[in-house]
Amino acid sequence: MRAHIVTYGCQMNEYDTHLVASELVSLGFQMVEAVEDADLVLVNTCAVRGKPVEKVKSLLGQLRKEKERRGLVLGMMGCLAQLPEGQRIAEKFGVDILLGPGAITRIAEALAAQGRFWNTDLDPALPQVVAPPPRGALSAYVPIIRGCNHRCTYCVVPRTRGGIEVSRPPEVILEEIEGLKRAGVVEVTLLGQNVNSYGKDRPDYPSFAELLRMVGALGLPRVRFLTSHPVNFTEDIVRAIADTPAIARYIHLPVQSGSDRILKRMAREYRRSDYLKRIEMIREHLPDAVLSTDIIVGFPGETEEDFEATLTLYDKVGFDHAYMFIYSARPGTAAAEHFQDLPREVKVRRLERLIEKQKAWSLEKNRAWVGREVEVLVRGQARESGFAEGHDRGNHPVLVPAHQAPGPGLYRVRVTEASPHLLFGEVTEVLHRPTPREAVA
Ligand code: 5AD
Ligand code: SF4
Repeated sequence: MRAHIVTYGCQMNEYDTHLVASELVSLGFQMVEAVEDADLVLVNTCAVRGKPVEKVKSLLGQLRKEKERRGLVLGMMGCLAQLPEGQRIAEKFGVDILLGPGAITRIAEALAAQGRFWNTDLDPALPQVVAPPPRGALSAYVPIIRGCNHRCTYCVVPRTRGGIEVSRPPEVILEEIEGLKRAGVVEVTLLGQNVNSYGKDRPDYPSFAELLRMVGALGLPRVRFLTSHPVNFTEDIVRAIADTPAIARYIHLPVQSGSDRILKRMAREYRRSDYLKRIEMIREHLPDAVLSTDIIVGFPGETEEDFEATLTLYDKVGFDHAYMFIYSARPGTAAAEHFQDLPREVKVRRLERLIEKQKAWSLEKNRAWVGREVEVLVRGQARESGFAEGHDRGNHPVLVPAHQAPGPGLYRVRVTEASPHLLFGEVTEVLHRPTPREAVA
């Protein structure tokens, strides 16, 4: 039997795809590159905004036709699978297997059922499952906590991935990372909706700051983490980063809005001044940290003045990068139920203005790297464009001439040029290339 998984959404979904694919391989499946070659197609969905949901619908439309034509087992997993909205979609498109984000461990059971199998119950054993290392990869994700205790009014995640944070046992996390290291991985990214809350649900577990130090001591060249919440991003975490050279000086700290009125409506639990204090604290201990953020424009009730507060906050912080989203009303969220959506043109115009700001700041921040050396992790083969692409410790995408970085590896690169989205450079030293055994393992 041959299987294929289509993945939408965030890094947690990418990891879950890897987990399920590994399980399928151990059940005797062959993972194939193309949907057309697969007897089992799973769609790992995202429900955070309307757009990914639309993509899932159109893919399922095609897959339903394919199923009618040649027979196919069709599955849905990921955040959309957990929501009534998603289950209606699954019904409509003839989905055979539906597994919520906490139920992905039941894939073997689902296949054995040989008929419709839908399950959205959180499997209490999920945190203990150790994923095998991805084949030949230099970089890998490692979840440390699942679920979210916050209740941002725009967000579906507490309902899809669980409204109570559950930390993975530290020994399981360390075992998984040791395995990755043995398989040749040089970079791990610790994942969670809220990594800073790590251990808060378990007095016997280390705190996030302590976990960072433990992971940092394993001897991997690079450790990163995603995502942080400003409320829990405390000084002990910043000190742990400052004391641990392996931890990347890259901090992604979603602010969402610069206006107190909107932050309150979003139930973000902090105000503009709290956020700015956090940034000051970070800069004090980590002056070279690269900062990025998430911003939602056009939240219901956002006035011109509120939006301008977001722009002035951007200037105050001077983010290196921002992920910017137009507010998308999600069924069942408090914001969608209680507030009136703004006209689309207003939201689009604000996004354009924000993008302009982001571009100008990113260009200025990126230019400051010209002439400096960065360490670049190239994950794949060089592209036809004649460049190999990787990312540095600050998460900047970096392009180097393909002949200087002919394959995956860690390279020291002197930055020669910058654009708002990219750094360009020349390789000055090859720091690490996977051994042939690692490359095919
Ligand atoms: N509309 C727009 N953006 C959203 N995000 C989460 N929910 C919504 C929504 N309803 C954004 C937030 C979050 C990122 C992962 O997605 O900025 O940090
Ligand atoms: Fe990831 Fe959130 Fe999308 Fe779920 S809804 S896949 S947690 S981004």
